[in-house]
Amino acid sequence: MPEERIWFDTDPGIDDAVALVLAASEAGPAVEGFSSVAGNVGEAQAAANVLRVTRAIEEALPGALGSPRLARGADRPLLRPARHATHVHGEDGLGGRLPPLPVDLLPKRDVLPAYRALVELAPPGERFEGTLVALGPLTNVALACLCDRDWPRRVRRLVVMGGSIEAGGNATAAAEFNFFADPEAARIVLEAGFPQLDLVPIDAGRRLAFTRSQWSRLEGIATPVARLVRELTGFWRDRVEAAGMVVYDAIAWMAVHHADLFDWRAYHVTVDTAGGAADGASVADRTHRPRPSNCRVAVDARAEPFWEHFFALLKCGGGAGTASPDS
Ligand code: RIB
Ligand code: CA
Repeated sequence: MPEERIWFDTDPGIDDAVALVLAASEAGPAVEGFSSVAGNVGEAQAAANVLRVTRAIEEALPGALGSPRLARGADRPLLRPARHATHVHGEDGLGGRLPPLPVDLLPKRDVLPAYRALVELAPPGERFEGTLVALGPLTNVALACLCDRDWPRRVRRLVVMGGSIEAGGNATAAAEFNFFADPEAARIVLEAGFPQLDLVPIDAGRRLAFTRSQWSRLEGIATPVARLVRELTGFWRDRVEAAGMVVYDAIAWMAVHHADLFDWRAYHVTVDTAGGAADGASVADRTHRPRPSNCRVAVDARAEPFWEHFFALLKCGGGAGTASPDS
């Protein structure tokens, strides 16, 4: 059963784009909107990339998405200088693999700032009975928490791609990129009191690298949506061939819609904001007398059913609403 309502806060990003394609394939009508945030690329480029990806999804899966809104978000972290990852995603954030967006199509920044759009998903007296999926630095989500301290409690579920429990960092030796890019925002969100905060850290992908074997399976699927994923990940082809790439945000989407594919542990997690060698590192309390948990963490995944579902989705394309992990 698709989630009633889904909102993505995102910094596309090749892996963000793959996550959006998967979501459109199996829960498209539930996708209510997107908010862009500076992360892999600057915020304006992230916003343009959301529209580039949704236009490509419409070509591959006509009608799969309804008419999701785009709210433009923070163009810099709360306190830190902006940190991008164009060395991973290419200068345009999508490896140059999709047509550029006609400039007049990009909504103006001030129409509805992202943090206001997020708060308005669950205004005072109402609840957001859906899932907010955060795939980039948590700046917009943190601003929404600061704007209305009770807002987090009105959001049924927040899923965050970010952090690392025991897998080390990918931005620095200690920190995962989304938390490293805005450590203060990550700490605010973790401590804001969301009733269900599902954290999908680097650890969840420890067995889910996209390798030559996955690439070959992908090349063997002739559907438009499989071609789109192949196009989007083509920028990483040489890395896939060499050591594999973990498509983190795609894993986060699967944790949204197929939580049973993952092993979950409840922890109290906070973030180092001291600016030292561990700046932006997530710290899970695994002592014998831990603090009360503030999230549940996807610490591992069942690789075989994960890939079975991933490829079943791409085989079915728009008809994948019925696809399930055992399909
Ligand atoms: O560390 C991986 C995360 O940082 C992913 O969301 C990727 O898109 C970047 O935002
Ligand atoms: Ca991302």
